[in-house]
Amino acid sequence: PVALWLDCDTGHDDAFAILLSAQCPALRLLGISTIYGNAPLVKTTQNTRSILRAIGREDVPVYAGASKPFCRPAASAPDIHGESGLDGTTVLPEPGAPERTDMSAMLAMYKALIAEPPKTAWLVATGCLTNAALLFNTFPDVVDHIAGLTIMGGAVGGGFTNAPMGSLEGQGERFGNWTPFAEFNIYIDPESAQSIFSNPVLAAKTTVAPLDLTHQMLATPEICLELLYGFDAKVDDGTEASVLRVLFNQILTFFAKTYADVFGLTEGPPLHDPLAVAMVVFPDLFDDKGGERFAIKVVIDGEHGVDEIARTTSQCGRTILTPLKAGQAGVRVPRGLDAGLIWRILDL
Ligand code: BDR
Ligand code: CA
Repeated sequence: PVALWLDCDTGHDDAFAILLSAQCPALRLLGISTIYGNAPLVKTTQNTRSILRAIGREDVPVYAGASKPFCRPAASAPDIHGESGLDGTTVLPEPGAPERTDMSAMLAMYKALIAEPPKTAWLVATGCLTNAALLFNTFPDVVDHIAGLTIMGGAVGGGFTNAPMGSLEGQGERFGNWTPFAEFNIYIDPESAQSIFSNPVLAAKTTVAPLDLTHQMLATPEICLELLYGFDAKVDDGTEASVLRVLFNQILTFFAKTYADVFGLTEGPPLHDPLAVAMVVFPDLFDDKGGERFAIKVVIDGEHGVDEIARTTSQCGRTILTPLKAGQAGVRVPRGLDAGLIWRILDL
C-alpha cells in the first residue's frame, strides 16, 4: 500500500478524507496532524479522534499542529461546519485514545515521512497549509524525500488562464467560496500557501484539487442514499444501515443543509477533501488534459476583510494560475474527474 500522512481540520468533508485514508486497502495511513480551520484546533483535534474511534482506527497517531497562521489571526467556519466543526451528528463517539504529545506535530510528520523509502510517501493536506509550510521550511530534506503533496485548496474560475489581477473576465462573477476570489483553505493562511507553491521542487510534485474540481463531486440525495446502504446493496423495507453509515450520512445531511443555506447550492454539497486522498491512490481518475502543469501565485497583499464590503473586494487568498509550456515542471491541477468511480471508492 501507498504510505501517506494526513493533515486536516476535521470538518465534515475532512471526515471522509480520514475514512478513505484509514480504510482504503491501497493506502497505509502513517498518522494525522490537525490544524485550526473549520473550527479552532482543540475542536478539530477532538473531531479527528472521534472519527478514528468511529471507524475503529485509534491505532493511528494524532498530533495537534498549529493553532493559528504566522501573520494573521485564526479564522474558523461555524456557518458551514457548526460550532464544533462537525455539527449534526448524534452517533459520533467521544474520542477514546489520547492525542499524542511526545513530540510536535511537525516533528512527527517529518519522522514518519523520512522513515519511508525515498519517493514513496505522500503528504495530503485538507486544511490550510500552516503545518505543511512549517514542515517543509524546517526540514527541507523532506521535500526531496517524499513522493508528493496533494492539497485541497484554491479556486481557479472559468479560465485556467493567466488573467490579469483584478480581472474577472471569463471567470464568472464568483469563483471562491470564502470571498468571491478566494477559497477558504488558501484564504486563511495565504502566506503558507505561497511558501509552498513558490518552492519549485515541491511545486513540481504537488497536485491541487481546487473548488473547480471539487464542485464536480456533489453529494446529491441519490448519492447519499447509495452511501447509506452501500452501492451494491439490495435494499428492502427492513434493511438497516450500519451505525457507521448512519454517522457519515448525518455528516452529509448537515453539510447539505449549510451549503443550501449559505451558498444556495440545493443539488448537494461538494465533497472537497477526500479528493486530495483519491489523487494519491488513483491519479488516473483525474484529467489533467495530457499533462498540463501550472505555476501558482497566491495573492497575499491586503488585510483580511473585516467587514462585508472588504470581504467582497479583497483579493487576498486568490490563486492565480499560469499555464506552463509542455514538459515544464509545475503544479498539477486537474480540470476533471471520474465522479462515478470516486463515489464508489468512498463506499467503504
Ligand atoms: C475547504 O474548506 C473547508 O471548509 C473544507 O473542509 C474544505 O477543506 C473547502 O473550501
Ligand atoms: Ca478541510
